[in-house]
Amino acid sequence: MRFQGLLDTAEAMIASDKGLLAMDESTTTCNKRFEKVGIPQTEAARRSYREMILTTHGLSECISGVILYDETIRQSCKDGTPFVKVIANAGIIPGIKVDIGAKDMAGHPGEKITEGLDGLRDRLTEYSHMGARFAKWRAVIVIVDNSPSRGCIEANAHALARYAALCQEAGLVPVVEPEVLMDGDHTLARCYEVTEDVLRTVFNQLFTQRVTLEGMILKPNMVLPGLACPRQETVDEVADATVRCLLQSVPAAVQGIAFLSGGQSGELASARLNAMNVRFKSRLPWALAFSFARAIQQPALEIWKGKETHVSAAQHALYHRARCNTAARRGEYTAAMERAGA
Ligand code: 13P
Repeated sequence: MRFQGLLDTAEAMIASDKGLLAMDESTTTCNKRFEKVGIPQTEAARRSYREMILTTHGLSECISGVILYDETIRQSCKDGTPFVKVIANAGIIPGIKVDIGAKDMAGHPGEKITEGLDGLRDRLTEYSHMGARFAKWRAVIVIVDNSPSRGCIEANAHALARYAALCQEAGLVPVVEPEVLMDGDHTLARCYEVTEDVLRTVFNQLFTQRVTLEGMILKPNMVLPGLACPRQETVDEVADATVRCLLQSVPAAVQGIAFLSGGQSGELASARLNAMNVRFKSRLPWALAFSFARAIQQPALEIWKGKETHVSAAQHALYHRARCNTAARRGEYTAAMERAGA
């Protein structure tokens, strides 16, 4: 029964051309993004921002699930309605980030290991009682010179698999996020090689830890050249490399794939997801969806700037990006959508 519930949730998260909206920035990350656009870094401002997002009219047409942060899952709208209730009333599935961040890895200068396994079983029980039906854990892999190292890839993959097993035990769908960062001047070929290695290692560990693949969502990076790489491949080349890499490393039983945006512009993230679906959708064993934070939120954040009078325009921008990504899932996104929505 619990197992069936897990599968139903995973299926619903990936259904109907919708995707996930990641709004699980830690307080530190959220404050950094607020600072850049001149918003006060307070609990009250973070709460108002999240209320602006969650009360966007029509959000559930495009968004199947939202990923919350520990602070956010405990917050309410100013009329007192808990955020989790607002989300569930809209027909959206509430989820929660459960890792406690990527920390410097001992013996591996420049590399990170994600922490949060201690006490995780109890925290998952608490979040489940609060209404969460899925969880997220992000591992961070950096490409520089000889990194990532074997030690870093294996430790992160092991942690992801132990987290995923604990989630499934608690009846929560694990969103497994091994992110190979875009920072650096590496080529697309190097990103391909690292992403393939990371994904194969992650799935080995998921198998060893007895994780049910039908009851999980993979949240990978797209295969991209580093931001500072002089050669930036076309949208179609990125789509081809990403799908080829996933076919080499992700078992067909996985319920769905929902990409992170990783610092790509909203338009590029939509265009690349669209190209993958246009070119490959009918031939893939899994759906290709989105689980974007910045590529959905950024324009809305820049418009909102903490001002009540900007809420409606910010919500319009958020809804627009969500719609573009739903269209990209269908392979129907066009540049004209951007002009019409601007
Ligand atoms: P971005 O889409 O901004 O990369 O965020 C996704 C996410 O959940 C990061 O953990």
